[in-house]
Amino acid sequence: MRIPFLKNNEVIFEQVSDDRADEVARLHASCFDRHWGKAEFARLLVQDNVICIVANEVGRPQAAPLAFALARFAAEEAEILSIGVEPARRGKGLARKLMDEMIRQLHAQQAVSLFLEVDSDNTPAVSLYRNMHFEEVAERPSYYSSDAGKKSTALVMRLDLV
Ligand SMILES: CC(C)(COP(=O)(O)OP(=O)(O)OC[C@H]1O[C@@H](n2cnc3c(N)ncnc32)[C@H](O)[C@@H]1OP(=O)(O)O)[C@@H](O)C(=O)NCCC(=O)NCCS
Repeated sequence: MRIPFLKNNEVIFEQVSDDRADEVARLHASCFDRHWGKAEFARLLVQDNVICIVANEVGRPQAAPLAFALARFAAEEAEILSIGVEPARRGKGLARKLMDEMIRQLHAQQAVSLFLEVDSDNTPAVSLYRNMHFEEVAERPSYYSSDAGKKSTALVMRLDLV
């Protein structure tokens, strides 16, 4: 399924389904040490209450997407499951635009609260969410553990969508 729905300067946002699981898994692998894999994305993207938006470069519809955001909604609550921007495209406002687009889509699904969980050591991500006015609602100390055994805190953040 390809549903292009917004042109935003140099990128076009598009909602994708399980037929694009491979592309999204590859992009995810370029953003995170722990990969989810194609099968995991296919399992998620087939679900009716999961939204995956990718950003494509204008004029290059067949090229690999530059960024993705994945969210799940249930009743009035929604959660960002993952977001990532290709390393070479970071720091240019792409994640912010993608989050804005995701919020529009979740709002259309009647979501009133958006939650996410982020490693407190992930400065770019925490800055992104704080700048968008997400508020910290819980802390989970020693929640994450790196391959080297380093522990870090998970922050649970919430944004009211109404
Ligand atoms: C986090 C991530 C998605 C941000 O993507 P991005 O496109 O570089 O972010 P943007 O350029 O849209 O920046 C958004 C905001 O975050 C801030 N920000 C982004 N990178 C930053 C950094 N390295 N240091 C400090 N602040 C940063 C910007 O100042 C910007 O604030 P503004 O909206 O007030 O201008 C990207 O770094 C990434 O893919 N990281 C790896 C995957 C990951 O950690 N995902 C989040 C998991 S919770």
